[in-house]
This record gives sequence, structure tokens and C-alpha cells, in this order.
Amino acid sequence: MSAAAMTTVLVLNGPNLSRLGSREPEIYGSATLGDIAAACSALAEELGLKCDLRQTDDEAELIGWVHEAIERRLPVVLNPAAFTHYSYALRDALAMRTAPLVEVHLSNPAARETFRHASVVAGVADGTVAGFGLHSYELALRAVARLLEEQARSVRS
Ligand code: DQA
Repeated sequence: MSAAAMTTVLVLNGPNLSRLGSREPEIYGSATLGDIAAACSALAEELGLKCDLRQTDDEAELIGWVHEAIERRLPVVLNPAAFTHYSYALRDALAMRTAPLVEVHLSNPAARETFRHASVVAGVADGTVAGFGLHSYELALRAVARLLEEQARSVRS
């Protein structure tokens, strides 16, 4: 059994991401959040992880889930959506994290409007994957699996 076996990864999604599929498909693609959930679950199983995907339009609820991850020491893949660019409250919550955190975006915010260039979350994440649509989530899950393996190795040595 791998070190990452059976760890639950919270895949958290911020505002408007429930609309994927019909929301600006030329930017965000045609995959729905359900498609993303299915792809994440399938890959998580391959990686020996469990995936718990959630979405909210509510900043307080999202921060509550981050607190839950902190308490349960769960890794997080997070698409903060528009909160990326201005939520210091979300950033402060994430700064208390107790497990890997990978920021994820479907689009490439750096290639879009200026207000999307800043991420207040990036500085407290292990890394960011952006610009690959649904595949961004798969790459982020692989990054989490790698970080968990590295952590387990450093505890053993
Ligand atoms: C997004 C990029 C954000 O700028 C935007 O507000 C979103 C989605 C993405 O996944 O590309 O809602 O996080």
C-alpha cells in the first residue's frame, strides 16, 4: 500500500464553478463540474487516494471547508475562482494548512484581464496548475500524490 493510500483529498471549488459546461465555454471548456468530479475520482483511485469534490458560491462556507481540512490534516486541491484575486480571508485560512495545497485553474489567469494576474492564494500554496481545463485538476491531484509520498519518505528517514 502506498504512503498516500486512502488519504482523502478535498477538491474545493469557488463561485460560479457549478455553471461549468455552459459558463463561457470558449474560456472554461465544455466539461461540467460533474465531469471534473468523475475524472478526479477515477484518477484518485489510481493514485490510492479518495476524492471529495465540493463547490460553493459562499466565501464563509469555503473557509469552513478549509478549517475542516486543517483539523483533519487533509490535502486540498483548490480552485478559488474569483476569490483567488481578492480574498485575504481565504488566504489567511489557507496559511494555517496542515497538509499539501495545490491551487488550480481551468483557464490561464496570467493570460487574461489584469485583475486576474494577482493570486492572493498562490503564496501559501505548494504550487499552481493553470490553463489546462479539466486536465489542470488531474495534474494537481498527481502533484498532491507526489507531495504526500515525499512527506512520508521524509518522516521515514
Ligand atoms: C478560474 C479563473 C478565475 O479568474 C475566475 O474568476 C474563475 C475561474 C479558472 O478556473 O480559470 O471563476 O479560477
